[in-house]
Amino acid sequence: QQRPKSVIVIFGATGDLAKRKLFPSIYRLYQNGKISEDFAVIGLARRPWTNDTFRENVEISIEETVSPATDLEEFSSHFYYQSFDVTEPSSYNGLNELLNELEGTYQTEGNRIFYLAMAPEYFGSIANNLRKYGLKETEGWTRLVIEKPFGHDLKSAKELNNQIREAFNEDQIYRIDHYLGKEMVQNIEVIRFANGIFEHLWNNRFISNIQITSSESLGVEERARYYDHSGAARDMVQNHMLQMVALLAMEPPINLTTDEIRSEKIKVLRALRNLTEDEVDENFVRGQYGPGVIRRRNVNGYREEAEELAYSQTETFVAGKVMIDNYRWAGVPFYIRTGKRLAEKATHIVVEFKDIPMNLYYEDQKKNPNLLVISIQPNEGITLFLNAKKSGHGSAAQPIQLSYNNEGVNGINTPEAYEKLLFDCMQGDTTNFTHWDEVANSWEYIDSILETWANREPDFPNYNSGSMGPDEADKLLEKDGFHWWPITDVIK
Ligand code: BG6
Repeated sequence: QQRPKSVIVIFGATGDLAKRKLFPSIYRLYQNGKISEDFAVIGLARRPWTNDTFRENVEISIEETVSPATDLEEFSSHFYYQSFDVTEPSSYNGLNELLNELEGTYQTEGNRIFYLAMAPEYFGSIANNLRKYGLKETEGWTRLVIEKPFGHDLKSAKELNNQIREAFNEDQIYRIDHYLGKEMVQNIEVIRFANGIFEHLWNNRFISNIQITSSESLGVEERARYYDHSGAARDMVQNHMLQMVALLAMEPPINLTTDEIRSEKIKVLRALRNLTEDEVDENFVRGQYGPGVIRRRNVNGYREEAEELAYSQTETFVAGKVMIDNYRWAGVPFYIRTGKRLAEKATHIVVEFKDIPMNLYYEDQKKNPNLLVISIQPNEGITLFLNAKKSGHGSAAQPIQLSYNNEGVNGINTPEAYEKLLFDCMQGDTTNFTHWDEVANSWEYIDSILETWANREPDFPNYNSGSMGPDEADKLLEKDGFHWWPITDVIK
């Protein structure tokens, strides 16, 4: 297979994302021979850097994240820097000249990726300026990669989308949801659709509930300005959590093409139950962390993290019961939970199966239901919880686990999400990027929650750092006769 060739233009090249994720990802693709050696990267930002300063920064970021890092000088010689003002025509003209020059040097066939890794308020105007100043007029293809947040609510997301669509077609737009690049998130489809034993049971007759937890032990860190304007519902639920719900709940696509997979996911998002205010009150819990202890270290509460957060009403935790009104899932709660400053950093999915009609081995059969656990991070694996005979005399049963550990088997770390997504983009594969219809439907759902919350005064802070969130999050499941499967119980 031919290795993809292109020039990658990164807007926001001096920022955190470029440093932590993009440069190391490009490096690993290069190191593993995934991309052509004839590639070039143009970094754009306001600072008056030179190529040399930029290259030095690229090298440092790789040394900090990749080991072993070899041939760094050769690698970074493909990086070029241009000081850029997104509102200035001369910046775009200068960029076009540099692109033409590098396309000659590296023979990249006119293929251009524009990666917007910067403040979202400029997304629309950059996209339009790229068209206006002729940067899309090339013999190859042009693709636009957009980081989140894609809008602040449905209305602003629509406005942004309309602006972008004036310049780029839907199939040229790559909206990043980095969870879709995670190995075990991609594995959901394979586990479901390549195994006879699960798909027959994958419905409301056999599954009692599904739990998705994405917990973080870090707090808001350096991102107070962005985060306080966003909150956990926008930051994690609208995108990552609902994407996982869609992958778990979708019908089998007729084939594995982008359009078929996306269209099944869109159907799930369209079937999310519309929420009245009462339903939001009943089924969604928000929280904000107070001070506490994480791994024996005292940590501040959210309101103490920065001066401007002193009176913040922003949620750093969300738990919710998501209902999908379709034939397969009617009556099955999908419980989601995500938050900052929780006990551990871990993402996992627990599929809880219904009890058998009469369990002869357990008085309280509810204690050991069959579970399918998909561990997304930090461990990558699958564990099936079954009941089997206790060795020895008698016929007592005991719970056992069948486990697959992704890293253990391969002996290597799987590629980082960004590495895979960047590679997909270079190959023109949009499957693991979000289509506009997915974005719109998830915003509609989140808007109904946020609108209700805007009318209620929250009682914050309401959970200690180092806990698993407010008590109400536990009550949410208890009301239905379930409980959250604790991370330590399900992940060994
Ligand atoms: C990002 C959010 O999209 O996802 C962050 O903006 C969050 O607030 C991060 O920390 C979590 O990603 P991961 O890959 O560390 O689970």
